[in-house]
Amino acid sequence: MPSYLITGASRGLGNTVIGLVRDKPATEKKVTEELEFRLNIHILRADITDYEGLQAASAQTAIITGGGLDYLIANAGYVSKFDAYDGIGALGEQPKALEEDLTHCFRVNVLGNIHLFNVFLPLILQGEAKKVIALSTGLANLSLIPKYNVEVASLYAIRKAGLNTAVAKFSAQYAKQGVLFMSICPGMVETGHFTDATPEQMRGLAGMLKAFREYAPHFRGPSSPKAAVRDVLSVMHRASVQNGDGGTFVSHYGTQQFL
Ligand SMILES: NC(=O)c1ccc[n+]([C@@H]2O[C@H](COP(=O)([O-])OP(=O)(O)OC[C@H]3O[C@@H](n4cnc5c(N)ncnc54)[C@H](OP(=O)(O)O)[C@@H]3O)[C@@H](O)[C@H]2O)c1
Repeated sequence: MPSYLITGASRGLGNTVIGLVRDKPATEKKVTEELEFRLNIHILRADITDYEGLQAASAQTAIITGGGLDYLIANAGYVSKFDAYDGIGALGEQPKALEEDLTHCFRVNVLGNIHLFNVFLPLILQGEAKKVIALSTGLANLSLIPKYNVEVASLYAIRKAGLNTAVAKFSAQYAKQGVLFMSICPGMVETGHFTDATPEQMRGLAGMLKAFREYAPHFRGPSSPKAAVRDVLSVMHRASVQNGDGGTFVSHYGTQQFL
């Protein structure tokens, strides 16, 4: 039976078999309420910035699966509100806050995932599928930012670009051992990130949505987590090292069309 481990399974897009979360009791409660009792769902506790915690989770995963792991999905992420509505110049008016937010973002989303990949790699090498996926964003796509002047979410885009590069570097090293490393954007998904936005903040966001509609006239707004998970899994299952997908950064369509 294939095994999946997904980080950030406590809310949002996370939805799977071995869930790595920070709040184990709350997630177990939610899983029981929403999915009833399922023997194939295991919740493990770890913060991805805690290397020893990841090592312990890896050891527990090996016990659950019998040694290997087929799919590792790096979904956990710190999604900042600090940069969600303003351009990078406006953020620069609060230099200390900018520095703190970017440093924290980098620690969780780049460094945390590098540790995650390194710690779980021995299990992946023993697995059948050998696929490692990172959830990224089209906002880090360098042909999109200048063409549509997407001003907001700059720190988010910067650290996802760092993550995409880390994924490509892991691919460079491990593709020869048959491991597929890939970054996939799930599209824009409704997971409650903008629910507390003030009218002024919504005006900042409107610029991004306008750029999105220009980029993709068919775009009608965020998709549901269920649809996004289905799309990302479909791209992951179709992709392979043999087809040249290793190290790539694609959308939920498996292409360079991000919306
Ligand atoms: N939603 C979108 O439109 C969209 C678009 C493009 C890409 N993405 C990416 O898709 C992924 C999921 O997005 P989402 O909207 O579901 O995000 P979300 O609702 O903010 O959920 C983030 C998840 O990451 C976990 N997390 C945060 N920091 C962590 C840490 N240090 N260690 C372990 N877990 C940590 C959170 O756990 P806690 O509950 O413990 O905080 C939560 O489960 C993210 O990587 C995001 O960047 C989302």
